[in-house]
Amino acid sequence: MPDLRERSIEIIRRNQAPSGAYVACPHFAPYRFCWLRDGTFTAYAMDRAGQHDSARRFYLWVGSVLRQGAARVDRIARVVEQGGTPSSKDMLPTRYRLDGAPEDDSWPNFQLDGYGTWLWGLAQHVRMTGDVGLVDRLNDCVSLTLRYISLCWRMPNYDCWEEFGDRLHPATLACLYGGLTAARNLVKQDEAEKATRLAGDIRDYILRNGVLDRGAFGRRFAKSVGNSSIDASLLWLAVPFAAVDPVDPIMICTVDEIERHLYHRGVHRYPEDTYYGGGEWPLLACWLGWYYCLTGRPSLAAPILDWVEGCADERGELPEQVSDHVNDPEYVGVWVERWGPVARPLLWSHAMYLVLSHEVAELDGRDTDASALRLVSRG
Ligand code: BGC
Repeated sequence: MPDLRERSIEIIRRNQAPSGAYVACPHFAPYRFCWLRDGTFTAYAMDRAGQHDSARRFYLWVGSVLRQGAARVDRIARVVEQGGTPSSKDMLPTRYRLDGAPEDDSWPNFQLDGYGTWLWGLAQHVRMTGDVGLVDRLNDCVSLTLRYISLCWRMPNYDCWEEFGDRLHPATLACLYGGLTAARNLVKQDEAEKATRLAGDIRDYILRNGVLDRGAFGRRFAKSVGNSSIDASLLWLAVPFAAVDPVDPIMICTVDEIERHLYHRGVHRYPEDTYYGGGEWPLLACWLGWYYCLTGRPSLAAPILDWVEGCADERGELPEQVSDHVNDPEYVGVWVERWGPVARPLLWSHAMYLVLSHEVAELDGRDTDASALRLVSRG
């Protein structure tokens, strides 16, 4: 089998539509769309792999779809300014057809995380390529997104797993925080100042409402405001969105809990997850590995890379999740019957594999500050 890095790039390239959109998964009917969430991390992985032309085409595509939403954002603003609450149907969608048309079906479409994530991704692209011309071309879309986030961030919306639409979620808010702070470098000073203030408000909100105090067991982030469960997406608060320091005691406690309840060989989304039984997700395993790299412990990421490589089939394709260690075996068949086998290849899985392999390679596999971190963690 060819090197999984090369194969991942090939799979991502082959599944980028002429429009620039990345399909989430080409062979799984419900995923034949482009999500801002999956798409941005895929573009980021391509940037890390030096495939900047692919990432650039994706961001231009995002620009073209967002422009279509400008009138909607005006409508939302009018409703909000008159003291009303727009209906979730009025919001910008979370996923689009590859040709850019929004998909207006019963999918839980009001999800805000992707709107922060794409801003973050664009800023990473510009940092890596110096392509300020792209920023000029997407200026109106960056401003539109900032306006949309400022109007909607306090409204309950579906989480990154497209569930629990009646709540706010620290991971989603972290995406918005990360997008706003990154966008400061993409806009003029007055807009940058507004974005900075809003990012600060969002961070304060997370720390005031999204943290669970477990007395002697410490404080950790909660899955959602008012839902004390744990969720692997809480890693995003530290990496890549830097809403908190990766070695902040709250973050360390959160990661401890993720390791205890969700990390087996891969990583589960959350303990109560029953989608395809609630299996282990290669992309989340890579995220935990990314956190280990960020905190100077690439040696802990190496077995994760091995495990993810073992998840590839003979064509070198990675699935969304694997089902040999699931939360609830009864649900595997239920989903297979409804939608067929687990989605494969999932571009987001390939993307996160690429990100982690670059992280490990850049650190040369060598640990740095591990003992200091362990002291903080156990103290
Ligand atoms: C996941 C989303 C993802 C979508 C497409 C859903 O099952 O929960 O996070 O964006 O699939 O990959």
